[in-house]
Amino acid sequence: MTDKYRPLKNAFGRFATGIAVAACRDGEGAIAALTVNSFTSVSLEPPLVLWCLENRASSYSAFMAADSYAVSILHAGQKAASQRFAHFLPDGPKEDEFENWVTGAPVLKDRLAGFDCKVAARHEAGDHVILVGEVAKFDSAEGAPLIYYASNYIPGTEKP
Ligand SMILES: Cc1cc2nc3c(=O)[nH]c(=O)nc-3n(C[C@H](O)[C@H](O)[C@H](O)COP(=O)(O)O)c2cc1C
Repeated sequence: MTDKYRPLKNAFGRFATGIAVAACRDGEGAIAALTVNSFTSVSLEPPLVLWCLENRASSYSAFMAADSYAVSILHAGQKAASQRFAHFLPDGPKEDEFENWVTGAPVLKDRLAGFDCKVAARHEAGDHVILVGEVAKFDSAEGAPLIYYASNYIPGTEKP
């Protein structure tokens, strides 16, 4: 079946990004997580970030109800994690691969950088919602990032 959005996706995809895992806790305390490349830093004072959540995502209601979320930036060796949290592979989030910092949102232990955020605003935007977060705690490490460009991981040709 042809994807009528393919030309627009091709143009959007010419903007290279990193890849992150956004995660929160649902009403039962279980981890809801997904792979995102829409993460952006927004403000230094106060420290704000954003990412965009698709309205149809299985984790949509968890993120809409949660008052905090964490964003873990993936390093170059985490292609499999990107696949897993995009739900292209069956194994879901495991409690022991995450840690809790300030807000209780789950931060991946294996990461290039982490941001633990209180939800500051939600803005509906077409078929996504923009989730603005105020950073309560963050860290960063040295290393190469996992990069996404034109629907592919860079370097490499494997489709996600
Ligand atoms: C590299 C990559 C980047 C993605 N970026 C986003 C994103 O920014 N926002 C989003 O809602 N979904 C994004 N997705 C899709 C989700 O990770 C996930 O695949 C989608 O929500 C389907 O999962 P579900 O069936 O459990 O809802 C991305 C997927 C990949 C592989």
